[in-house]
Amino acid sequence: MATAKAHTNIALVKYWGKKDQELIIPQTDSLSLTLNEFYTTTTVNFDSHLTSDLVAIDQHILSKKEAQKVVHVLDIVRQLSGIKSFARVDSINHVPTAAGLASSASAFAALAGAASTAAGLNLSSRDLSRLARRGSGSATRSIYGGLVEWQKGTDDASSFAQPVLENVDFPIEMLAVLVDTKKKKVSSRSGMQSSVETSPYYDAWRQVVANDMVAIKKAIKAKDIDQIGHIAEENALRMHALTFSTDPGFTYFNGETLTIIKAVEDLRNQGVNCYYTMDAGPNVKVIYNRGNRSKIVEKLSNIVGSERLVVSQPGPGIKIWNE
Ligand code: PMV
Repeated sequence: MATAKAHTNIALVKYWGKKDQELIIPQTDSLSLTLNEFYTTTTVNFDSHLTSDLVAIDQHILSKKEAQKVVHVLDIVRQLSGIKSFARVDSINHVPTAAGLASSASAFAALAGAASTAAGLNLSSRDLSRLARRGSGSATRSIYGGLVEWQKGTDDASSFAQPVLENVDFPIEMLAVLVDTKKKKVSSRSGMQSSVETSPYYDAWRQVVANDMVAIKKAIKAKDIDQIGHIAEENALRMHALTFSTDPGFTYFNGETLTIIKAVEDLRNQGVNCYYTMDAGPNVKVIYNRGNRSKIVEKLSNIVGSERLVVSQPGPGIKIWNE
C-alpha cells in the first residue's frame, strides 16, 4: 500500500493533439506551471482478496466505465511489476471550491506514484512521468514542481517531462477564476483529436509551439513575468483557434470567459500587467507579478465574486509514502 500527493499544473505552452493515441505521445512539446493550491492525494492497495479493481474518487465509487482509465494505468503497473492482484484506489481531490477545475493532471500523477510504489516498483521521476502520461497527457508534467516541460519524444521511452525551473525564484502567481458551467464539455481527448484531424491550422500550430517553447524558456531564464504571460496568452488563443476551426467547430469559452478576458485587457490598459490562459473548459487563469495581486483581485471580485477566485503560488513536485 502507498499514498502519493501530486499538484495540478496549468500549461503556459499547451499540449493539444496526440501522435499516438494509445501511448499518448503528443504532437508537440509543452510547458507548464505546477500550482500549490490544487492537488490530489491517492492511496493504492493491491489486495489478493479483491475480485476486481475498486476505484473511489472523493469517496464515491466509480462504475466500471468511469474507472476505465484508472484500471488502464493499474494494468500497466501490474505488467511492469508482475503483481496479479486487483487494487483498491482511494483518491481525494483538494480543490478549494466545488466549481470544476481540471484535476486529471494531479489525479493521474498521484495514481502513477501510489500504484507503482504499492507494487514495489521504485521508478525514477522520469519513469514516473512516463507512467502518468499513460493516464493523461497533462499528468506527465505534474511529477515535477515549478516550471516543467514535456518533451514530446518519439516513443514511450523518449516522451517524458523534465523540470525547467523547480524552485521558482521570482514572484509569478496565478489566479484561477472559476466560471460556472452547466453544460457538458467536450473532453480534451476528443477536442484535441478533432483538431489534429480537421483543423486546417494544425500545421501552423506545430510551428507556433516550437517557437513559443524557445521564447518562453528564454523569458523564464530572464525571470520576465510579462514576457512569460504574453507568450502564454497568445499560445492559449491560438490553441482555442484550433477548436473554432475544426469540423464541426466548437469552443470551450462561454460568455463569462469573454467577460473575464475583457477585464484582464482593461486592467492591462490601466497599467496593471496581467495575462490570461484557458484550457478545455470556461475557467480563466490569470498570470501576473505578485505585486499586482490586490488590484487584479479587486477588479475581478467585483465581476464574479471573491468566492470564485483562488490565488495560487508555484507548487512542489510529487510526494510518495510507502505504507
Ligand atoms: O492531458 P489532458 O487530457 O488533461 O489534456 C490537457 C489539455 C490542456 O489542458 C488544454 C493543455 C495542457 O497542456 O495541459
